[in-house]
Amino acid sequence: MSHFAFLAAALFLLAASRWTLPTSAELPRFREAPAFRNGPGCVSAPTIHIAMTLDAAYLRGSVAGVLSVLRHSSCPESIAFHFLATRPRRFRPVVAAAFPYLTFEVHRFNPDVVHGRISSSVRRALDQPLNYARIYLADILPRSVRRVIYFDSDLVVVDDVARLWATDLAPYQVLAAPEYCHANFTTYFTDRFWSDPVLPLVLTGRRRPPCYFNTGVMVVDLDRWRAGGYTRKLEFWMEVQKRKARIYELGSLPPFLLVFAGEVKGVDHRWNQHGLGGDNKEGLCRNLHSGPVSLLHWSGKGKPWLRLDAARPCPLDDLWAPYDLLLRDDDPFSDV
Ligand SMILES: *[C@@H]1O[C@H](CO)[C@@H](O)[C@H](O)[C@H]1NC(C)=O
Repeated sequence: MSHFAFLAAALFLLAASRWTLPTSAELPRFREAPAFRNGPGCVSAPTIHIAMTLDAAYLRGSVAGVLSVLRHSSCPESIAFHFLATRPRRFRPVVAAAFPYLTFEVHRFNPDVVHGRISSSVRRALDQPLNYARIYLADILPRSVRRVIYFDSDLVVVDDVARLWATDLAPYQVLAAPEYCHANFTTYFTDRFWSDPVLPLVLTGRRRPPCYFNTGVMVVDLDRWRAGGYTRKLEFWMEVQKRKARIYELGSLPPFLLVFAGEVKGVDHRWNQHGLGGDNKEGLCRNLHSGPVSLLHWSGKGKPWLRLDAARPCPLDDLWAPYDLLLRDDDPFSDV
């Protein structure tokens, strides 16, 4: 073959294949999820509102999370998803293509809202403005949404989400989240915080001793949140951190602890089988905690889609893989 013919053939093959050089502007494509329909018992089922974020880095995780919720729901058509994204027009078509039957909105989260309030944390992923979007749910979602479940984008639900939705928030009323009182609460704040004559006083007078809780799985009464001005209370601590003193090292979690610790309704730990991402130590695979499993949470640094792509999955990543809707270039359906 002459050089010219070889070059022409190579160019033709390149053009004919669906290969494109990945650019940062390009989002992955997803297969279409099947239609999930309500059963006959759903006539008077309440609408369940679920909020999640959408960004390029976690998109595959968010899509898997949505599929997992639908697959295990007894009334999937009664679920309304509220996605938060800094660029909603970029993500709306992606969700619509993967879930043509889904009731959803993509709300704009304006990152400028938090830009002046974020201080750098020990993990860069925690500094992303979207990580703080959960603080603004009560402002961003319509007033008609009075309760919402917030889910991180690195989890799958393997139970009927209606059970989580039915959480009784009494007597704390505003927020339910999985609580871990054996975790050493002191370590979430700096010596500067604990040695301050005034700042730690915020934690006194709580109904129970303050405990760490996970903000990746929350049930929020938005009416009471709005009435109590909790967004402003969380912002206050972000401003202390940014302008007064470095009082914590992590991202959006510590302000939640300062405002709500000891006033949180504990969610059964079955709804947060957490730490599957390996808790900041790379290559460290984790096992399930004892007890039942309604939700698997890859919290920590490792994410199942990254480990699967690298052909170095942890054993439990196999439980995430069935919810992966990523459309690969070599997928036989990639042309449809
Ligand atoms: C919790 O952590 C603090 C700070 O590292 C330490 O001084 C304290 O002894 C710890 N408490 C327990 C019960 O481990």
